[in-house]
Amino acid sequence: MEENFKLTNAVELKESLATKWQAPSNIALVKYWGKHGLQLPANPSISFTLDACRTITSVKASQGKHSFSISYDGEAIPEFVPKIEAYFKRIASYCPWIANYHFEIDTHNTFPHSSGIASSASSMAALSACVIDFESELTGVPLDYHKMSFLARLGSGSACRSLQGAAVLWGEHKDTEGSSNHYGIDKSELLHPIFKDFQDTILLVDKGEKVVSSTIGHDLMNGHAFAKARFEQAHENLTTLKKALEKGDLETFIKITESEALTLHAMMMTSHPYFILMKPQTLSIIEEIWAFRKETQIPVCFTLDAGANVHLLYPSEHKIAVGELINNKLDQYCQNSHYICDQIGTGAKKC
Ligand code: DP6
Repeated sequence: MEENFKLTNAVELKESLATKWQAPSNIALVKYWGKHGLQLPANPSISFTLDACRTITSVKASQGKHSFSISYDGEAIPEFVPKIEAYFKRIASYCPWIANYHFEIDTHNTFPHSSGIASSASSMAALSACVIDFESELTGVPLDYHKMSFLARLGSGSACRSLQGAAVLWGEHKDTEGSSNHYGIDKSELLHPIFKDFQDTILLVDKGEKVVSSTIGHDLMNGHAFAKARFEQAHENLTTLKKALEKGDLETFIKITESEALTLHAMMMTSHPYFILMKPQTLSIIEEIWAFRKETQIPVCFTLDAGANVHLLYPSEHKIAVGELINNKLDQYCQNSHYICDQIGTGAKKC
């Protein structure tokens, strides 16, 4: 399979190249947690693509020995060098022409630097879009979105779900034709109209650095007592969730989405070493959401990443009511009352 992404077309090198792409973050509904080999997922996952939370990356390439520089708004960011270096090494056999270029990479995130929101998905997706754009220019072959997603996965697993489509499925799944462990596939066609402008308000409970890096976190699933059952459950949850997305069945959507979030955290609480990544405020928010849902019947639910922040998911028709809930009850649990209003988006774009 990987072999299909090795470049076979003739490349005509140019002295210099320049491009700029933006790619969004994404929020998983069925979670990717556990990996093997070179960034292959232990189970399939599906996410909504976000819109406002994005990374904008510009790359200038000049012919010469391979090297790169990486900056954020023009300022060097040495802490990113190892990750980008590893990325270029991993993609080298698929894009051999990169050996002939020096890359000057500059990035910018639309979300605050210290918001506790991982930028690896959006940044690896944006960089991979730039690489494929160059490849297309050097070969004359049209943009290959599957290869973009394939390269992004080699940078960060979840990044492969940030390229194309409002809902993206990654990982082999028997009930999904065309699904692959190697890249994400656009499943926007599944979405019932109720999901088309779904809202995601990210409640920033903890803006600090991640307590557990995702690499360490995924590793904890190796030898985890519940790993086998969890991976099987993800397959079943994906089958059920896909049907709910198609039918616009919000009750099932909520049941699966919240259960996936809690299972992710349960896996961390029951690994060795064990972690609790939720904060007391995370639990308070969850309780408020449940109470609000019971009282109003408004279909708002939560999901969590590998951290304390809460993603509040709801149909846009309930924006006003949920806005009141946030301002009256939930923002007191956020650091400096901060939250980010986002919604479902469509993927990476050239700027
Ligand atoms: C909890 O994609 O950040 O957000 O492949 O090691 O870069 P690496 O991991 P990463 O893991 C994301 C985990 C998650 C769930 C998800 O997005 O599916």
